[in-house]
Amino acid sequence: MSSKIFYERVYKFNDDYDLVSETLFELGFSNFYTLENDEGVFLILVSDKPKKIIEIEQKLPFNIEFVEQRETSSEEWVKNIISKPFEFIDGVYIDPDHHDIDADIVIKIIPGLAFGTGLHATTKLAGEMLKKYLKPGMKVLDLGCGSGILSILAKKLGASKVVGVDNDKIAVEVANENIELNKISDVEIKESDLLKNVKGKFDLIVSNIIAEILIEALKKMPEYLEDGGIVILSGIIDSKLDLFKNLNIIEHRRSGEWNSLVIKF
Ligand SMILES: C[S@@+](CC[C@H](N)C(=O)[O-])C[C@H]1O[C@@H](n2cnc3c(N)ncnc32)[C@H](O)[C@@H]1O
Repeated sequence: MSSKIFYERVYKFNDDYDLVSETLFELGFSNFYTLENDEGVFLILVSDKPKKIIEIEQKLPFNIEFVEQRETSSEEWVKNIISKPFEFIDGVYIDPDHHDIDADIVIKIIPGLAFGTGLHATTKLAGEMLKKYLKPGMKVLDLGCGSGILSILAKKLGASKVVGVDNDKIAVEVANENIELNKISDVEIKESDLLKNVKGKFDLIVSNIIAEILIEALKKMPEYLEDGGIVILSGIIDSKLDLFKNLNIIEHRRSGEWNSLVIKF
């Protein structure tokens, strides 16, 4: 993967980790990790531009105490988040390195500056639903692909073709690197604001983005679905679940405050 300089801003914080992670998710910021040592608990936000971190910092509704700003590389900060393989969902492991793992499916992920390490509840819920609903041979669209984790899973579960899109250039870059790392074919990753740059029809669309954006995407989704096609939505926080109540919901799963829905039109 390309080695670039990134910046970390380190803060001391005393709030509940779930609140911090949920707030950053809602702000669309996923490049962070925490560290605990004798001096306390620290939150570290990472970006290629310190200005972006400062903008996020100013929106945080809880108290954090700035400690320092330091330079890092994409490899380094990702290692701080995940260094050991872990079971992402039943029978599927994420391996950030090159371990010998005895499992049905192993996904290599170097997430870089893109959401999708496999540690977040919203990704796990989407992964579980994919495992249940994806049948071999299906064409799959991963809307908001981030690191490409769900695109890779879809392909490894037997999809015939996967298209992953994201409106973040860095996510597209990182996802392409992860696709290469997993040595899989018939997966196309491209930049697109929701469905604007997507062509063709799919048997299954999976999308893990915040509720308001999912609602926007749902307006156009039927045009991109084959007859009887399935949509897996994730990233819906409890307080926004009502926005989805009029849909034809086939299955609903919950983890902490996060919800995932499988729907059909
Ligand atoms: C929560 S992350 C999900 C990443 C990965 N699919 C996963 O499940 O872990 C949401 C992703 O959606 C992307 N996104 C947000 N708004 C978008 C839009 N309007 N069009 C395309 N992608 C978008 C973000 O850049 C981010 O990578």
